Amino acid sequence: MCGIVGYVGAKPAAPILVDGLARLEYRGYDSAGVAVLGPSEIRLHRDAVRVRELEAGLPKRFGGKSGIGHTRWATHGVPSQQNAHPQLSADGRVAVVHNGIIDNAAQLRAELEADGVPLTSDTDTEVLAHLIARAPADTLEDAVLTALGRIEGTYGIAVLHQAHPDRVVVARNGSPIILGIGDREMHVASDTAALVRYTKQVVHLDDGELATLRADGYQTFTRDARTTKTAVTVDWDASDYGTDGHEHFMHKEIAEQPDAVRRILKGRLDERFHTVRLGGLEMDARELREFRRVKILGCGSAYYAGQAGAQFIEEVARIPADAEPASEFRYRNPVIEKDTLYVAVSQSGETYDTLVAVQELKRKGGRVIGLVNAVGSSIARECDGGVYLHAGPEVAVASTKALTNMLVGFALLGLHLGRIRDVSPADGRRLIQALQALPEQIEAIVGDEEHLAAVAKELATAPSLFFVGRTRGFPVAREGAQKLKEISYRHAEAYQTSELKHGPLALVGPELPTVAIVPDDELLDRNLGALQEISARSGPLTVVTHDGVDLGVAPAHVIAVPKSEPELDPLLLTIPLQLLAYHAALTLGHDVDKPRNLAKSVTVE
Ligand code: F6R
Repeated sequence: MCGIVGYVGAKPAAPILVDGLARLEYRGYDSAGVAVLGPSEIRLHRDAVRVRELEAGLPKRFGGKSGIGHTRWATHGVPSQQNAHPQLSADGRVAVVHNGIIDNAAQLRAELEADGVPLTSDTDTEVLAHLIARAPADTLEDAVLTALGRIEGTYGIAVLHQAHPDRVVVARNGSPIILGIGDREMHVASDTAALVRYTKQVVHLDDGELATLRADGYQTFTRDARTTKTAVTVDWDASDYGTDGHEHFMHKEIAEQPDAVRRILKGRLDERFHTVRLGGLEMDARELREFRRVKILGCGSAYYAGQAGAQFIEEVARIPADAEPASEFRYRNPVIEKDTLYVAVSQSGETYDTLVAVQELKRKGGRVIGLVNAVGSSIARECDGGVYLHAGPEVAVASTKALTNMLVGFALLGLHLGRIRDVSPADGRRLIQALQALPEQIEAIVGDEEHLAAVAKELATAPSLFFVGRTRGFPVAREGAQKLKEISYRHAEAYQTSELKHGPLALVGPELPTVAIVPDDELLDRNLGALQEISARSGPLTVVTHDGVDLGVAPAHVIAVPKSEPELDPLLLTIPLQLLAYHAALTLGHDVDKPRNLAKSVTVE
């Protein structure tokens, strides 16, 4: 989705802004632009082009030591030069970049037009530039506050004003704004990806907050008062945002999973007491023992990870647990119970639905912890404590390594909750050993890529597929179907295997391939029965199972993964499905990393 960058310092701003925009490209965009403050005017360069074309077309005289930039994904108005950001005020003295949506833009546009202000774009953002320029205020900060007072909707903005060349003013309401503290310079961006090349010290604005950035520092404030912020250190490098020789980010991120799992486990396994250490929870054993239920909230793949996590927690710790899409939870006026532990799970930490669900929970007095990948992100800050996932930055839209680390994160949480209850030291040891074995087992699965690519090539020809699994295998099936849908645009539907005969079996036949998740567990016989039913109807089968299982039928394809402990089965069974989706998308010639219609993090309603 849209991206914001900004800079104030002693260096030429344009190359820094363009570099920042290039680092936000992965989020998807249809136009790009930058504005810098020259000696006597704001200089603007924008168009419906890729960032490298924008850079190639930069005018020779484009000097300025402060500036703002934007990658736009059209909401109001088609992608065009006029609609690209930055948007300028009529007098050319104010430039604004904006993420989010101004709900009352039509009404504000009509008012401005009636006042004789010429509107030159179709965007909602342009009204902000005019409102700031026209605000009766002595300072830029007051002008921005006055203009924002007229706005209904969500925004992350950065503002440049010709009369205030020493500063950039930024504001946040529902769309991330992150300040980067440099050496006698300040940066700002909507995503840390654009900052890490310049600084590791960042400050996240909260909703309702604004900040003034100058070369010598920053000041944050709200409408009512100054605020004090603590900088956090990001441990991601600029090199983490490269493809490192892989053809796509998704491929790199699949391959990185063994290391990602090592990182989330590092320092957390307690082999003396056969449990785990989760200092970030900020709740001691006595508090954690009070919880009678666990409720997990997330969206999309994070929700599926939550479903697998709930099963792990219930099975291991024997605490009733379930998962629900945060996008539904927040709208249904949920009953919040004080003996329920709520868990928000998110890679980006910025998913709006999950964030609002957390805020709603807290407003009602619920205790909520986060399983979050992005350190210092909105959801991480909003939660009472949590477990960072340490998957490293995930750039491809389709989640892979973050999802895997979510599953590991839930295993750590479940084991912790279990060991302060009735899980025996022997069971603790068994699960810890299984967790330690995961990185090598994942390496083995990823090493089977050639075979998986051949299977994917065949599956990609089918217009529609079933993914089936039961109990621990069901979230795996859902995630497998989701991954295939997202990047190959094939219709894929997930069912509980046990539900087939209650309806979906009517569709099974030679035209409809089924990917069946068949772990070597206590339900193996039942799953084998379902394979017979599908085979009897000539349904082409791809079976994802464990090494050494006798399936009793001859499926078109067998994908076998190494055996773990049954409670951890979802984790290893999911990995081949990532590669199936990846190679299906490649076969069909799709943009694997930036699938159509999807954004990496959904920071809007
Ligand atoms: C699927 C995918 C999405 C995200 C969902 C939540 O591959 O990436 O379904 O899982 O949008 O995003 P986060 O985890 O950032 O909250």
